[in-house]
Amino acid sequence: MPKSLIQLQKQLQSLISPSPLQVINHPLFVEKNLTVSVKRDDLLHPHISGNKWRKLKFNLIEARKHGINHILSFGGAYSNHIHALAAAGHHFGFKTSAIIRGEPHYANNPTLKQAKKWGMQLHFVSRKEYRKRHEAEYLQALQDSYSDAFIVPEGGSNAFAIPGVSELCSELKVQCNKRIDHVVTATGSGGTLAGLIAGFSNDQQAVTTKITGIAVLKQADYLVEEVNNLLQQANIKEPTHWQLQTQFHGGGYAKVSPLLSEFCLQFEQQTQIPVEPIYTGKMFYALFELIKQDYFSTGDNIIALHTGGLQGLQGLASR
Ligand SMILES: Cc1ncc(COP(=O)(O)O)c(C=O)c1O
Repeated sequence: MPKSLIQLQKQLQSLISPSPLQVINHPLFVEKNLTVSVKRDDLLHPHISGNKWRKLKFNLIEARKHGINHILSFGGAYSNHIHALAAAGHHFGFKTSAIIRGEPHYANNPTLKQAKKWGMQLHFVSRKEYRKRHEAEYLQALQDSYSDAFIVPEGGSNAFAIPGVSELCSELKVQCNKRIDHVVTATGSGGTLAGLIAGFSNDQQAVTTKITGIAVLKQADYLVEEVNNLLQQANIKEPTHWQLQTQFHGGGYAKVSPLLSEFCLQFEQQTQIPVEPIYTGKMFYALFELIKQDYFSTGDNIIALHTGGLQGLQGLASR
């Protein structure tokens, strides 16, 4: 094994320890006889937090295995993934580049300003060009232009994201002293949901755990196929222990209604757990609605995944 890879694996091991699991209380949980805990992946690392960390870990290892020291990815102007990738590059000695949807003036927003400080090269493209980000021809042209780069898709959701998110499931199985009936997560590009499904597919003991993704964007049914594709790549055969809830988009990606804002404020006051309204706030709102609708069975032990993304709050304030 190359020395630089061994060094990276050591760094990865020493920097980040399992995130805490925190039980939260609410009269609704008592009424419905449910236990709800939050897997605090927002506490994994000050900058490479949440599911971004989980999804990037094995991408970094894979790149280094091949002696590649440059990671290129895609994102919106306030992307948590881009912010985390820039931080990871800075920490672990990778050059980073990003194809950003939108105009160059976005480089002055808090997310991209910080990414640049960490050494990331930003390339702004039109929305029309950005739409090509999954097309083989476009990706090949990009690879030709950035011949030394390891290309990671938007959101970090590829086959290498799966083992990273699955590690979280192994942590949960050790941390939980009773059966886990349900895991709930916010869903954007689908890698986190796929990783959770894979992580709870592996052994007989946990096969009863159901996974629910809360889609944060409108018309998200296409994500079912995306998640299935990722699972296929991970050799997980047609799992049925999962669902994608698509009715909680609240008007679309990054749309924040007064109701959602108020919910986030109250949630923070009651639990002391910080959330932002684009992913985690929407997910917790949906969780409460699903509980009211008796989506869960009495006695269920539910884990809600805090996927981080709190850096986005600064961007939201500046918009
Ligand atoms: C804070 C946060 N939560 C959830 C998600 C959704 O995860 P995924 O894109 O893997 O579905 C994202 C996007 O990566 C995110 O930034």
